[in-house]
Amino acid sequence: MDQARTPPDTLLIIFGANGDLSKRKLLPALYNLNAEDLLPDHWQVLGTARSEVTDDEFRELARGAITEHERCNFDDARFARFAERLRFTSTDFRPGDTQVLGDAIAGAIRDFDESPQLLFYLSTPPSTFGPITAGIGEAGLAKDARVVYEKPFGTDPDSFAELDKTVRGVLREDQAYRIDHFLGKEMVQNLLAFRFANGAFEAMWNRAHIDHVQIDVPEDLGVDNRVAFYDKTGAIRDMLVTHLFQVLSIVAMEPPVRLRSGPLTDEKFKVFDSMRRLSPDDVVVGQYEDYRDLEGVADGSDTDTFVAARVHIDNWRWDGVPFFLRTGKALAAKEQLVTLAFRRPPATMFPDVPDSGLERDHLTFDLSGGGAGFNFLAKLPGPALKLGRANMQFTYGETGSQLIGPYERLVHDALLGDRTLFTRTDGIGRTWELVEPILDLGDPHPYEPGSWGPDAATQLIAPRLWHLPEDPDRFSLTAI
Ligand code: BG6
Repeated sequence: MDQARTPPDTLLIIFGANGDLSKRKLLPALYNLNAEDLLPDHWQVLGTARSEVTDDEFRELARGAITEHERCNFDDARFARFAERLRFTSTDFRPGDTQVLGDAIAGAIRDFDESPQLLFYLSTPPSTFGPITAGIGEAGLAKDARVVYEKPFGTDPDSFAELDKTVRGVLREDQAYRIDHFLGKEMVQNLLAFRFANGAFEAMWNRAHIDHVQIDVPEDLGVDNRVAFYDKTGAIRDMLVTHLFQVLSIVAMEPPVRLRSGPLTDEKFKVFDSMRRLSPDDVVVGQYEDYRDLEGVADGSDTDTFVAARVHIDNWRWDGVPFFLRTGKALAAKEQLVTLAFRRPPATMFPDVPDSGLERDHLTFDLSGGGAGFNFLAKLPGPALKLGRANMQFTYGETGSQLIGPYERLVHDALLGDRTLFTRTDGIGRTWELVEPILDLGDPHPYEPGSWGPDAATQLIAPRLWHLPEDPDRFSLTAI
């Protein structure tokens, strides 16, 4: 987590380089890093995939992706210089079939004055991670290389164990970078600053003061363009066991001795270790109506497009404080909120305040917009002692570079060899154990697209309420 430095010269090999994720996140991130002068002095991208794609087609695809990306300032001259560094080799890389890519890599290396570091980026489905890693080993390319894995790393405890074994057979742990882009979000890192750089908040960050915690990531879009991936994955694997658990570990962890990869990851692991395995009684899965009509969805598919879960952390800090996690597709709005609701004060001089846990004071972190708010009760002006909801709000606004998002941050870290914001194998293994009892629940509750999901999710959190930003006035003093 050090200051920006220039990474060493690098040949970046992207598997699945013409795929959805590469177009939406990776190529725009590289373009932005280039615009901010954060790429190495000498670098090249070698894209690869099974489909037949020429260098020029790959460059055109990159142009389209970068032009469309909301955070890229497209500039023709800059793109032309960027595109010169992009190449593509079509091949189905796996053990027994490594020659084509091996030759392309050897050719690309010859363009560098000195041997570059090799950074492999697996922007491919989880089932390909094992064969590609084994291929890297077989082709003799693993020594000192780094390999970045997209999520999910495995799809259940068994596939995780098998993949882990393959990866360990080829790479040292310090060469494996398992990405979870939520850890690269500014506001997730800011949670660390908020908790550990201030005197006030850590003192109340525990069971004595917190009633419950919510990690809520509803999404308004459906999965129309990603059916092939999503129908095999579902919300538990795509979001809960990955992004939401990672955010939970940052919210719940003890102060690390230092903000360095080892101590930070140790503390995150302890959170996973003290989490209770999820029971079906603590989980609601849903599927939006119309999902099964999408082209590519298996007949009668039981894939969960929604999940809400009640998580228990059995340790001194959090015993008895439920963490409610929720995420889903085709919901009423897109939000990424972490909310800590404070306990009700003991003597209630204000009996009229409803007790949903959120009508009183709570802290909210907006992971997508980059803001935080403290919501509290205040007296409404006037002769009577009546209360209203008020808040204090912080937002990043235009502060800092607008070009550096989570992918820019994490790709830059991987180029530098900084593992602080990447996940470790023991933690991932534990998270798969935690969700094993709920992976194949079946029978998802139907819900209407554009709603807040199945009613059962409202029951799960009752008598508390899911915290949603109600209206644009939420940050002014409003009567309750
Ligand atoms: C991805 C998931 O990892 O994260 C998607 O596969 C999800 O299903 C996305 O929509 C959310 O990311 P963002 O960029 O909105 O924070």
